[in-house]
Amino acid sequence: MSDKATLEINGQKHEFPLVTGTENEVAIDIKTLRGVTGGVTTVDPGYKNTGSCESAITFLDGEKGILRYRGYSIEELADKADFLEVAYLLIFGELPNAEELAKFHADIKKHAVVDDDIKKILDAFPKAAHPMGVLASLTSALTAFNPTSVNVDSEEEMYNAIVRILGKFPILVAWTMRKKHGMPLDYGSTSLGYVENILQMMFKRPDEDYTQNPILVNALDKLLILHADHEQNCSTSTVRITGSSHAGLFVSLSAGISALWGPLHGGANQAVLEMLEAIKEDGGDTKKYMAKAKDKSDPFRLMGFGHRVYKNFDPRAKIIKVAADEVLGDLGVEDPILDIAKGLEKEALEDQYFVDRKLYPNVDFYSGIIYRAMGIPTEMFTVMFALGRLPGWIAQWKEMRTRKEPIGRPRQLYIGETYRPFKEIEKR
Ligand code: ACO
Repeated sequence: MSDKATLEINGQKHEFPLVTGTENEVAIDIKTLRGVTGGVTTVDPGYKNTGSCESAITFLDGEKGILRYRGYSIEELADKADFLEVAYLLIFGELPNAEELAKFHADIKKHAVVDDDIKKILDAFPKAAHPMGVLASLTSALTAFNPTSVNVDSEEEMYNAIVRILGKFPILVAWTMRKKHGMPLDYGSTSLGYVENILQMMFKRPDEDYTQNPILVNALDKLLILHADHEQNCSTSTVRITGSSHAGLFVSLSAGISALWGPLHGGANQAVLEMLEAIKEDGGDTKKYMAKAKDKSDPFRLMGFGHRVYKNFDPRAKIIKVAADEVLGDLGVEDPILDIAKGLEKEALEDQYFVDRKLYPNVDFYSGIIYRAMGIPTEMFTVMFALGRLPGWIAQWKEMRTRKEPIGRPRQLYIGETYRPFKEIEKR
């Protein structure tokens, strides 16, 4: 294959280098495009064809259903690693040895407190506030309590900022939920594993000890691993682009949380459950909703189906489907919502509309079902996604800053009015 791409504009040929990634993906390097063509730009709404960066963190092949973090397959990681090991892997590039992992966890625990004044901010939110909005605000507010900016050229400062947020974020997550449910705000326990501590902080009642259920710990561990990174998705791109202005880590993460909130992205897991509830309330007629999803005059979409990148299957959905069956079986959950979910899944997989468009259940279709069985309120689902995605966002932010990437600033094709003289108000 040639190592150049040729572009002809108005009879003039311009050559651009082809660059090949380690998985033999080929990209056209158009860094010089505007310069050599006298200002010609590209238009690519939704960035469907645009690589915003070079990255060594996550590889995914949507056609083949491959997802790997730093070269390790998601299947092996979900089976053999725990969330903290995966977080370390994503952020620092290698799986930690036992000593490195112990130090990482110990350093995170040192920072597993937040300024008590954060509670005042939390108090000011109405109870009806959506937890994602609260979480985004509290994450941003952390900057006010930890105002020193991070020198990204110092490994030590970078490391400290990272363990700090990994320690504090689960507290914000737990408090966001507990506040809404009128539960006292605790700090968890340093004697517990990272994931066990999250469960305890979320669910411990003030009047009794919290007993860990290994099935739930294992399921949450898997869910967090599966959500930990997904290359340049909407929220991750938001984190990178926010951080590219040299805004701090916490506010960049806060921007990512806001991006994740939307129902076309992380908010889909909540939307899936709400859809299933609505179908149940409406008599459980899945066929009716299948027809609505296919009707182009109806804005309804089957939430939890389809993916921008995976056009064969979502490898995370495969793993999570097994986990969902395990959790529901072990907990002995019988839930009419699940029957509706299974019915929809079966019908969609056999339906020509969905087959033609390669619309398969995505990770969010099953994650909501597990969260529900675990007793996590529906509107906390996307918060749980954010908890899992945190190491990915951190890794991507760190990569972007240490590679000294320029400020993110896309171009546009202007399609508005050309120059027109100002019209006085009485003439309008
Ligand atoms: N239900 C019904 N039809 C759908 C669905 C769906 N869930 N998803 C896509 N389609 C149809 C579209 O109408 C379109 O049909 P057309 O070609 O006849 O016009 C075709 O499939 C392609 O859809 P696009 O929107 O162009 O696909 P895109 O890649 O832009 O969108 C997305 C992907 C946003 C995930 C979409 O499939 C969707 O809205 N799904 C539901 C929301 C969801 O589950 N989001 C979670 C994604 S996973 C994550 O963020 C972790």
